Amino acid sequence: MAKKISIAIDGPAGAGKSTIARRLAKELGYHYVDTGAIYRTVAYFFDLWGVAPKDIDGITRYIDELTVGIEYDEEGVQHMIMNGMDVTDDIRTQEIGQKASLVSAHAIVREALLDMQRDVAKNYDVIMDGRDIGTVVLPKATVKIFLTAAPEVRAKRRTEELKAKGQKADYNKVLKEIQQRDYQDTHREVAPLKMSRDSIKVDTSELDIDGVVAAIREIIAKKVGP
Ligand code: DC
Repeated sequence: MAKKISIAIDGPAGAGKSTIARRLAKELGYHYVDTGAIYRTVAYFFDLWGVAPKDIDGITRYIDELTVGIEYDEEGVQHMIMNGMDVTDDIRTQEIGQKASLVSAHAIVREALLDMQRDVAKNYDVIMDGRDIGTVVLPKATVKIFLTAAPEVRAKRRTEELKAKGQKADYNKVLKEIQQRDYQDTHREVAPLKMSRDSIKVDTSELDIDGVVAAIREIIAKKVGP
């Protein structure tokens, strides 16, 4: 079997990772793996069980009751399956994002999810986005991108995105949550968000989606060929 191509895209909340990665995956014919959705599924599970995301005893006690599955529909859209239930839409709230940021800080949670992420990359050409893809999950990724933008720009985009989905969103509140999430994701002990030395930084503050996709496609083409 030919060695698979893997593109790692890491970066803070709201930098545009999933939009960009999804577009690139479609254009290149790769599998898109949204690893944030995996952590959101874990957060959603413990939320349903009434276990607080910082409650390591509760998490340790009940983690074996959880099975997480990733499935792709015929359009290539990733679905998250929690104990046999499709929770793809349920996990996309600010509250679950915030809880995912806390629950993902526990080593026991990260270890439980590592193999499933690596397995997809073993079997398919992938574009995988998250916080620790280039540093921990796929340290030998073909291309590593660190996608970032100013917190204010990310908050504005996230507010518009939530409103478009019919959810309530206040810019100042979203900005505060983004800043808090940045702090948590970069300061945790296990697999914190950080730019690895061999990754290429792309700042999306001043670029639109087409511009970012074109810039990253060029980076990939240089490494992999057109
Ligand atoms: O990308 P997202 O906003 O859906 O991710 C939700 C949280 O999950 C994020 O704040 C931190 C955590 N996460 C992680 O720790 N490692 C990843 N590879 C992806 C997400």
